[in-house]
Amino acid sequence: MRRTKLLATVLLGLCAAMPAAISPQPARAQATRYADAPPIAFGVAWYPEHWPEERWDTDLALMKAAGFNTVRIAEFAWSRMEPQEGAFEFEWLDRAIAAARRHGMWVVLGTPTAAPPAWMTHDYPDTLRVAEDGQRARHGGRRHFSFTSPRYREFARRIAGEMAERYGNHPGVVGWQIDNEVGPPSFDESAVAAWHAFLHERYGSIDTLNERWTTQYWSQRYNNFEQIPLVSSGQHNPGLLLEYRHFVTDVWTDYVRNQVEAIRQHADPRQLITTNSMHWNAGYDHTKLHEAVDFASWDAYVPDGRPVWINLAGNHDLVHGYKQRNFWLMETQPGRTDWVELNRALDPGQVRELAWQAVAHGADAVLYWQWRSALGGQEQYFGTLLGPDGTPAPIYQEVQQIGREFAEAGPALEGTVPRDQVAMLYSYDSRWAIDYQRHNNAFDPLEQFQSYYAPLRRQSQGVAILSPDQDFSRYPLVVAPALNVVTQEQAQRLAEYVRAGGHLVLGPRSGMKDDANMMWPQKQPGPLSDLVGAQVEQFYALDEKVPLAGGIGAGEAEIWAEVLEPQAEDVEVLQRYAAPDSWLGTSAAAVTRKVGRGTVTYLGAWLEPELLERFVGQALANAGVTPILPGTPEGVEVSERTGEGKRLLVLINHGEEAATIAVPAGARSVVGELSGGTLPGHGVAVLQLPD
Ligand code: GAL
Repeated sequence: MRRTKLLATVLLGLCAAMPAAISPQPARAQATRYADAPPIAFGVAWYPEHWPEERWDTDLALMKAAGFNTVRIAEFAWSRMEPQEGAFEFEWLDRAIAAARRHGMWVVLGTPTAAPPAWMTHDYPDTLRVAEDGQRARHGGRRHFSFTSPRYREFARRIAGEMAERYGNHPGVVGWQIDNEVGPPSFDESAVAAWHAFLHERYGSIDTLNERWTTQYWSQRYNNFEQIPLVSSGQHNPGLLLEYRHFVTDVWTDYVRNQVEAIRQHADPRQLITTNSMHWNAGYDHTKLHEAVDFASWDAYVPDGRPVWINLAGNHDLVHGYKQRNFWLMETQPGRTDWVELNRALDPGQVRELAWQAVAHGADAVLYWQWRSALGGQEQYFGTLLGPDGTPAPIYQEVQQIGREFAEAGPALEGTVPRDQVAMLYSYDSRWAIDYQRHNNAFDPLEQFQSYYAPLRRQSQGVAILSPDQDFSRYPLVVAPALNVVTQEQAQRLAEYVRAGGHLVLGPRSGMKDDANMMWPQKQPGPLSDLVGAQVEQFYALDEKVPLAGGIGAGEAEIWAEVLEPQAEDVEVLQRYAAPDSWLGTSAAAVTRKVGRGTVTYLGAWLEPELLERFVGQALANAGVTPILPGTPEGVEVSERTGEGKRLLVLINHGEEAATIAVPAGARSVVGELSGGTLPGHGVAVLQLPD
């Protein structure tokens, strides 16, 4: 009782501590559901083309009994829908959709373009992908097409259009998935031509490109765009390498848009379009690619069967950020995968735990991959709901429980979005630029990002991950762990944010490059220097830890250290190196400053985890952010979903031991096994809070 009152006081205190200028507003709820489809879609990837039609009803009845209400179908069925060039056969799909509807399933249709049929790759080898070493792909796997092939685009547009013409107004079809995990680029002739056109469009003249890329270096000067090689990595020009990533982003976005347009010509606007994506995959800029679709969805797998909850939390938040709206978990494993050396199954209760974690972070759908393994398909060992004998696998019962719970909690969750209290800025350009030239191989930009995410998530219990070009103005605290590439415009927006009352934290390597991957011709942090009021005198790669002392507390820097020189008088040194015999000496490692109504803090060193944890605590306090449910034990994840007149807490015990939780006053249990304040290991509780 006392703890509950204390909590209420803390929560009230939080509201009072918010800076007047910026108060976190919940994101606008935007439905990812269609018509009278359920608030939380629950389903599975089903491949009716793998099975005799006589079996369909049995399967669908078992799906229904599992609690499923959604099936995703057809995403690899091109040779079944178009067995010969231009000859379409959709009757089987009509019957499969009708059967699904008879059993109460909503249908998501996948376009089959990740698996071009043999007649095409045989008759038109130019549709095949060519690897960077010049090797042309062969038929028999998937993703063996060239993403730039104009002919392939035509075929893809036609099949998507044919499907949409037939099902674009089907009342049982709730949405579309374009392709499947678009990914590997091609280096064929059409790709090279597209690369040259892309560079031409971007730079206008070859002289501009030569200047921006400093091609006087090593005699790289180009006389025309056609001379520029298409390469993805290696010791190449930094401008070329970053533009290669922009090019791949551009092509994939256009590739997806080509099919979206074909579908949109026929489809009811209420049918929403997505593509299933791959969280941190750095092949292209996912935020940009998602401009082409209505909502984001992604595929979550834990191949070693040992989930690290904080990492999964970050994956969900990243995907949520692509569109700043709720998303779908389009695929996840019902137990195990089959592509690593040791494909351990998740423990009992963990499939449910992870399903609820997705919802807690804003998933409006959870779909499993897959229903049943095709007897002779490539992924025979993958986890499924049914065994090869067609009867339920042991995981089926746990999935049934999730189905019941989603149905029960659906009305309460409807119209709610995750409550995020702080924003982190994830910049693809920065990640690529650092990855190409890490300088210290231990400086993994993704690991560095996650090292900030973990304490921020644990301590604030609500983190948004956004690109530097998205709107972050409503967050009291914005953290950019390594904004290595920054444009003048981005720097300006960050300065405006701070002046208006925001609290900005910048990490090491920030403000070094422009968007052509050139060094800014001034000291780091380049266009952010005026805002920070300090500059980086020199940076150092560390092979051993270096002691630090100051306001954050005693501790050590590792991997990276920058010597900071205050320029403005009002800059406060927050932390110093304590390494008198080195280049670092006792110079500043972190500085902070008030600007307008906000503050800016620059951390020049990679802090060891304990120190970063403390720093994050201070940054949150400075911005007036307190946890949603303070005092929750380690391993218990707290999330909130809010909507008009609604506040729901999702508590997940990711540990194996029972945990004690201070339940807020007036909380009503929606689902879960929280009993007398105790949440068992792998337990879940959804609570409705008084508004
Ligand atoms: C995903 C893919 C699915 C299936 C699954 C399991 O990446 O989208 O089609 O292959 O992995 O391996």
